Amino acid sequence: MLRLQGPLPAGYTDASPDALADRIRAAKAHLGDSLLILGHHYQRDEVMVWADARGDSYGLARIASASEARWIVFCGVHFMAESADILTIPDQVVMLPDLNAGCSMADMADLESVEEAWDEIARVTDIDRVVPITYMNSSAALKAFVGEKGGAVCTSTNARAVLDWALDRGDKVLFFPDQHLGRNTGYAMGFTEADMRVWNPRLELGGLEEVDVKKSTFLLWKGHCSVHQRFRPQHVEEARRDHPRVTVVVHPECARDVVEMADQVGSTDFIIKAVEAAPAGSTIAVGTEIHLVQRLAAEAAKDNKTVFSLDPLICPCSTMFRIDAAHLCWVLEELVAGRVVNQISVPDETAKWARVALERMLAIV
Ligand code: 13P
Ligand code: SF4
Repeated sequence: MLRLQGPLPAGYTDASPDALADRIRAAKAHLGDSLLILGHHYQRDEVMVWADARGDSYGLARIASASEARWIVFCGVHFMAESADILTIPDQVVMLPDLNAGCSMADMADLESVEEAWDEIARVTDIDRVVPITYMNSSAALKAFVGEKGGAVCTSTNARAVLDWALDRGDKVLFFPDQHLGRNTGYAMGFTEADMRVWNPRLELGGLEEVDVKKSTFLLWKGHCSVHQRFRPQHVEEARRDHPRVTVVVHPECARDVVEMADQVGSTDFIIKAVEAAPAGSTIAVGTEIHLVQRLAAEAAKDNKTVFSLDPLICPCSTMFRIDAAHLCWVLEELVAGRVVNQISVPDETAKWARVALERMLAIV
């Protein structure tokens, strides 16, 4: 999807970090309780310090749905802002400070290819027994698709509960767009590779034999996160070699071989709690986006804990990184001037079914 963010005026790009901070502070004070700034854990510190609430994608969706703020500035990526818009009432306005903050994984499944896959699966198996589940990291159109077809959304926090729910309702799950979250969750539920097949949307029948489609419990969309796929088993081996008492904690978007070798696996919020719960003096290697790891490392150092990135090469999420203090300042000052910029507004018909899918998820956990 093409999303265009024009360049900011020079008054923002040329401003010093201190000047931007003063201006954000003043705009926030002016907007008061009518404003809610949400910050995903991958945001830079210069943005995160202004967040009224921090969270993983599940937690932020919950906070947005319970919020009464008139203006919600979502410091995260596009699919998160869309979900916030869907879960709030029409009078509430959701804004994304940089419209180019998308998610490359979310872009790996689009409505047309998912509908094609659905029709192809329907030709070889009883489609009424197939439950579509989309990861939160997907467009509103895909959330609407699963809502209409009796499925639900899941996040890395609740994927297991949502997949349990799905398999109570059917025999098979079509899971998109992240094959790794689907596979890792399937294994955690006791399934094996024999129960799973990867659906390649570029190939006829997903590149599978009819018998595979019929027999498998999980059809996993061939999608991945470019940040998390960088973590390799060799990184876990090196961490254990260099720090024999290390605890390895990774996000479930990592590949199966990495997750298998890790000590703990969970969402960004889970990772934060795991570090907080570790005793003083411990060493923790974290497999997720670098801004979160760096923030954790700074916090944990105060408690005499060592936190480092599992991948020694910096591993940022380039789209999360697009949100900076300048864009945040711009959105807030425009609001103060009575102008809404970068509103994320999901069309009513899409929002109706996407809300069904999101509310199913929120009711499950
Ligand atoms: P969380 O739901 O764990 O915050 O993950 C979102 C995400 O995009 C991870 O890459
Ligand atoms: Fe998307 Fe990966 Fe960035 Fe998460 S880390 S927002 S899945 S590209």
